[in-house]
Amino acid sequence: MTDPAVPPGGSGPRVVVAGDAEQAAVVVARTIRAAVEVDPSCRLGLATGATPSPAYRLLVHELATTDLFVDVTAFLLDEYVGLPTGDPASYRATIRRELTDAIGVPAERVHAPVTTGDLEASCADYESLLGSGVDLQLLGIGRNGHLGFNEPGTPFEWTTHVVELSATTRSDNARFFASPDLVPTHAVTQGLATIGRARHLLLAATGAAKAPAVAAALEGPLDTACPASSLRLHPRVTVVLDRDAAGDLS
Ligand code: F6R
Repeated sequence: MTDPAVPPGGSGPRVVVAGDAEQAAVVVARTIRAAVEVDPSCRLGLATGATPSPAYRLLVHELATTDLFVDVTAFLLDEYVGLPTGDPASYRATIRRELTDAIGVPAERVHAPVTTGDLEASCADYESLLGSGVDLQLLGIGRNGHLGFNEPGTPFEWTTHVVELSATTRSDNARFFASPDLVPTHAVTQGLATIGRARHLLLAATGAAKAPAVAAALEGPLDTACPASSLRLHPRVTVVLDRDAAGDLS
């Protein structure tokens, strides 16, 4: 069956506007599931944050009693620096709790940048682990247009690197911590060039707060001021929005 969320390639981003966030989650979950049905040992790039959670809940609901994902390898986009190993706010703990443990992806095949010790070496290690890139990369977008933790101004050609989080990102992510002071100041993130090595990019955005960033990414200048505009350089991109996030598109 042809998946309508999968663009043919080479035609620019395909934009799917769903009625609401739940319907957007259905499209995202279906696209992830279809990738694994086509290739059960595929390499999936996963995002954390609020946007993908409803899609992850759907996948857990549909797949908790199956072994469809047992041969999948998962790679996170990014990880905070400075959180104790296993901290519930760490992205590795979050993805295991929200998705991968429940659908049977073995913990040893859930990869995130290592953010203790020599961070430069860890960035290089993560690049080697990612090799030629993942098969499907799920992405969210920051209000400031970030992808992963590639904040505005990040060159498109950067690979995995250490980043100082912007004030916007730290304040947006404070909801996942007991207090704003506890939000780490730094993270390790896949670079835009790393993300661009994925065969298929799947960007999800919901809610009116994301509308300006979505419009800048899809219709604004191709510029590092909006890191997500780099998506337009990729041959196979699907953008799944709800009506609110699509609200500033012309
Ligand atoms: C998360 C990530 C970030 C988020 C973005 C949107 O792994 O890399 O780029 O996707 O900040 O976050 P939410 O979905 O919480 O609005």
